[in-house]
Amino acid sequence: MRKKVSIVGAGNVGATAAHWIASKELADVVLVDVVEGVPQGKALDLQEAMPIEKRDVQVTGSNDYAATANSDIVVITAGIPRKPGMSRDDLLNTNFKIMSDVVSKVVAQSPEAILIIVSNPLDAMAQTAFRQAGFNRERVIGMAGVLDSARFRTFIAEELKVSVENVTAFVLGGHGDTMVPLARYSTVAGIPITELIAPARLEELIQRTRDGGAEIVKYLKTGSAYYAPSAATVEMVEAILKDKKKILPCAAYLEGEFGISGYYIGVPCKLGASGIEKIIEIKLTPEEDAALKKSAEAVKELCAVIGV
Ligand code: NAI
Ligand code: 2OP
Repeated sequence: MRKKVSIVGAGNVGATAAHWIASKELADVVLVDVVEGVPQGKALDLQEAMPIEKRDVQVTGSNDYAATANSDIVVITAGIPRKPGMSRDDLLNTNFKIMSDVVSKVVAQSPEAILIIVSNPLDAMAQTAFRQAGFNRERVIGMAGVLDSARFRTFIAEELKVSVENVTAFVLGGHGDTMVPLARYSTVAGIPITELIAPARLEELIQRTRDGGAEIVKYLKTGSAYYAPSAATVEMVEAILKDKKKILPCAAYLEGEFGISGYYIGVPCKLGASGIEKIIEIKLTPEEDAALKKSAEAVKELCAVIGV
């Protein structure tokens, strides 16, 4: 039997994630949204692409959570995105209400699923989902680090004129202005980028990574990025469905790791069939450690506002 992935929020990120999942033939996909007709229409359109793509997957759309029953993974992208001039944090109160409602409906249908949270502000929304679902922390994972690291990798590859395949990068911390791109753990064909890029230029690439979401919002004007965010989400989906034991930066609920307890924050995680199978505690310099703690403080402040 094929695996089943449900995606709540059939907007830009959700529908594009469905597209990547179907085109990689990873699983049957169910799209759910509050807007009538949108998940049905997008799902049917995608289904009709399958003979051309030569992929045997079922893509369905619904406004009813019953269609999501017994999903292996549920991706939650429901909510409002940023507009120019808005920070991710400006979405807090609206998306908190949406996330709480969606998670209760998802969990009722798929008590064994792994949840991948995408809606912003990401770390606070992952925390909301974790509290609402009552699942163990292995099964509620936030997507942000894969995206932020992919942006950093893009800028490094462009700077050094090398294949993107040669570039590994790690961005930890919260998905916001305090994110922590770790130059020391970022490499090109195994060579630390600190040996290849001068410090001042590297700082510019790091700042561009921090501003990566805003750079796209400024161009689009009516919404935020979705190709790279959905590809990042699907890398996590694939790692879980194929039990790849892949180490990716994900938002995880920390219980003392990195000296942080009781909050979601981006850290290196091993993803496999059970979700987060291990949090990898890498050594940080005092400056990196302070930056991660500062980022955790920012998440803590948001969580206090919504009481999660
Ligand atoms: P979008 O506006 O294109 O799609 C959101 C969808 O959610 C809409 O179709 C809307 O009808 C639906 N929705 C709203 N309330 C709902 C509810 N109660 N139940 C079901 N569906 C509901 O927005 P987009 O671009 O897809 O972004 C979605 C979210 O993901 C935003 O909060 C955005 O900030 C966030 N995001 C997070 C990223 C990350 O790195 N974690 C990256 C990109 C986006
Ligand atoms: C991004 O980083 C808006 O969080 C979204 O593109």
